[in-house]
Amino acid sequence: MKGSYPHFMLKEIYEQPDSLTQTMRGRVISHDSSPDDVSRNHRGDVHLGGLSQRIGDFRRSSRIIFVACGTSFHSCLAGRQVMEELTELPVSIELASDFLDRETPLFRSDVCVFVSQSGETADTLEALRYAKKCQALTVGVVNVVGSSIARLTDCGVHLNAGAEIGVASTKAYTSQILVLIIIALQLSADSRAKQGRRREIHDALLTLPNLVTKTLKDLDGRMKGIAERLKENTSILLFGRGFHYATCMEGALKIKELSYIHTEGIHAGELKHGPLALIDENMPVILFAGKDACSGKVQNALHQVTARGGIANMLIVGTEGDSEIEKFSDKVELVQVPKTVDCLQCVLAIIPMQLLSYHLAVARGLNVDQPRSLAKSVTVQ
Ligand code: M6R
Repeated sequence: MKGSYPHFMLKEIYEQPDSLTQTMRGRVISHDSSPDDVSRNHRGDVHLGGLSQRIGDFRRSSRIIFVACGTSFHSCLAGRQVMEELTELPVSIELASDFLDRETPLFRSDVCVFVSQSGETADTLEALRYAKKCQALTVGVVNVVGSSIARLTDCGVHLNAGAEIGVASTKAYTSQILVLIIIALQLSADSRAKQGRRREIHDALLTLPNLVTKTLKDLDGRMKGIAERLKENTSILLFGRGFHYATCMEGALKIKELSYIHTEGIHAGELKHGPLALIDENMPVILFAGKDACSGKVQNALHQVTARGGIANMLIVGTEGDSEIEKFSDKVELVQVPKTVDCLQCVLAIIPMQLLSYHLAVARGLNVDQPRSLAKSVTVQ
């Protein structure tokens, strides 16, 4: 039911403080959980019951391969860096279709993680069958309980995000990122060297739902106004890097599928390798600027775009308190999301893009919950 919301998509965007809480319930345990809590042994840590039988095999693997399509692929892009950092294992990400086309070599020592909201996507499911044939350990990160991928994988973690009805994936995306990060925390639980970083991420997870609530409250009206200004454009470029590479890719997908405006998500490090030729004072640009290890490089990208007149039509999605980016606030449209730990910043930064794509579709009089030519679940290859 949509309740008081005009569309399922808007309802699902607004459900995120709750869906993220549900994703973490019983898995990310606070420092002061009650003594009767079943999770009392994991106070101040994480616990993933769905992986416990195979966690040893997972830890002993030689590499981790994420396999997914569409938005779910972008969540893998968002989760990869922390997985690499905390497990110190090589982590690759694969579009399920390309993974199958290449008949990617797989070994028994590999772990394949299949990420899917529906658990029924044909390419992802076929890739899972292939991985099983190769005897790799298979792990599902799925929202729909009882779905094919949930049933066929050796072990897994449900998103617990609740039903997602809108064709455009929103709350499943943010829950997928959380699950991948919680898996990384679980896998590195025994690593002494990682404890400080693990604690930092663990504690930030617990405060994230409140920051999502604040982001929605602060930015919905702003994004509606920006959608009104952008609605006649035929093209928008989105740039990001580091933890925001995923944000620019997912932001571009959301805008194109809902508004039918041509968009491209581009790694900011690639600007000089071609995309800069597209930049002039008429090209709308959205730049994601985190306050993290990539800040300096993102500012370089900002200067490159500015030098080609691209600042005339620029929206920056930045972080509150980032004085370097605030210097540009009189020249560009700047929206800021609250500050959290670097690897969770992408969960907050995608929210203005979900809102923007929603308001663009409404402003252009399009079908929000059922964009043309798309289906919620792609069950044919
Ligand atoms: O159900 P899945 O997560 O496997 O679906 C994969 C894609 O079809 C899906 O994420 C699609 O890209 C989104 N609905 C776009 O918003």
